[in-house]
Amino acid sequence: NSIIAIVPAAGIGSRMAADKPKQYLQLGQQPILAHTLDVLLSHPQITQVVIALHPQDQYFQYLAQSQHPKLTQVIGGGERADSVLAALNMAKTIDPTAWALVHDAARPCLCHSDIDKLLESQSRFPQGAILAAPVRDTMKRSDPSGIITNTVERALLWHALTPQYFPIDTLQANLANALKAKVNITDEASAMEWAGVMPGLVTGRVDNIKVTHPDDLQLAQLFMSQAQ
Ligand code: C5P
Repeated sequence: NSIIAIVPAAGIGSRMAADKPKQYLQLGQQPILAHTLDVLLSHPQITQVVIALHPQDQYFQYLAQSQHPKLTQVIGGGERADSVLAALNMAKTIDPTAWALVHDAARPCLCHSDIDKLLESQSRFPQGAILAAPVRDTMKRSDPSGIITNTVERALLWHALTPQYFPIDTLQANLANALKAKVNITDEASAMEWAGVMPGLVTGRVDNIKVTHPDDLQLAQLFMSQAQ
């Protein structure tokens, strides 16, 4: 099957409190999104990249990658899941039999070996799979006032990362139906779970962080310099 990368990049990054959306902040030589796109565009098995942008995006056109022949732009939506759905609708018109590799614009430290691990898991997980990292810390649940109610067994807990890898047709249908049913969807796996399809977990690198807070930029910079 062919593989189409889906990149939700329509967020405004309000938690970053910067003068522009976080995916356009500079990380070393180029903006965060440019690093992310380089990883995906240079992967030999990814044939197309569909990117969802904010309707008022003013920055994308200035990226060196914006005119890349593998790249298609769509307008994103109000939430991440709406942006992913818009990109999936476009990807379906390119190749309805393809698999979607959905990856956050704000995760620039992804490396090809993690993509390869996920693609290779397809025979074990024909329903699809996601990159994830086992939880390392002791996990607590609290009441709303911030007092511990209990300790949660950590052995089977994971952080969900991206990329997340699913057949385009089933992911598109499940995501569209889940959104119609007003389910809170924060990643692609949750749409599949809601439809009763349980994705596999593939252990990913812990340096594949999502740049969310200002401190994350320095960490991403460090990981990026180590990878080179
Ligand atoms: O805000 P958060 O870190 O969860 O965003 C994850 C990714 O989803 C980012 O790459 C962001 O640009 C994208 N996003 C989007 N459309 C939205 C909100 C977020 O494409 N409406």
